[in-house]
Amino acid sequence: MKKIIITIDGWSSCGKSTLAKQLAMALQYVYIDSGAMYRAITLYFLRNMVDWTKEKQVHEALKNIELDFRPNEKSMETEIYLNGENVEYVIRDLIIAEKVSDVATIKAVRTFAVIQQRKMGEKKGIVMDGRDIGTVVFPKAELKIFMTADNAVRVERRFRELYSKNPNITIEEVKNNLEMRDYIDSHREVSPLKKAEDAVVLDNSNITPEQQLQIALDLVKQKL
Ligand code: CDP
Repeated sequence: MKKIIITIDGWSSCGKSTLAKQLAMALQYVYIDSGAMYRAITLYFLRNMVDWTKEKQVHEALKNIELDFRPNEKSMETEIYLNGENVEYVIRDLIIAEKVSDVATIKAVRTFAVIQQRKMGEKKGIVMDGRDIGTVVFPKAELKIFMTADNAVRVERRFRELYSKNPNITIEEVKNNLEMRDYIDSHREVSPLKKAEDAVVLDNSNITPEQQLQIALDLVKQKL
């Protein structure tokens, strides 16, 4: 069976990773969460007090960062490792979310991540989600999906996710963070978040996860 590259880009918390995981499972493809790479780099910078406004410090730090994705033995879902440590869960904290979009504006950081992302797609059979996957990382991908959902729905979803881990979190904090990241991500100079011309828009505000998978699988069928 022919293998393709599927890209899923879109706003924060609109269900990109849920759809990407569903598709990867259904098609037996590899799933790569490109946002996890930017989050893991941010974690490294914060832990090592790297001043990311200083070009030299960023270059030195990137030399010491090794990222890889490995499947969880139980769930078989891919998880990200930073220099051999599983950081899949710590990178989801709001502390990281508050800084990641700043770090993701840095050209050297993006080049570092994009080189690795392209390598992962060499054999195709991959679903990658992020902000610039259909526009910059894989501009020739066979299927590009641009996801969106109502703001209130997105805030509610992310709040529920974060609240289960940290009951001190407030809905305002989550809302502010999503708005801030969407603004920075879509206004930055390098690889801003935007719909690729040939991407299909999928608004999942009012559909179930099963329905969204069905829509995406129909799109895949048309490409195969
Ligand atoms: O899960 P959520 O959609 O909220 O975010 P994420 O995919 O984990 O990405 C975290 C942040 O990384 C984004 O807000 C962007 O600033 C950055 N990012 C990026 O610049 N390019 C990508 N391909 C993926 C993420």
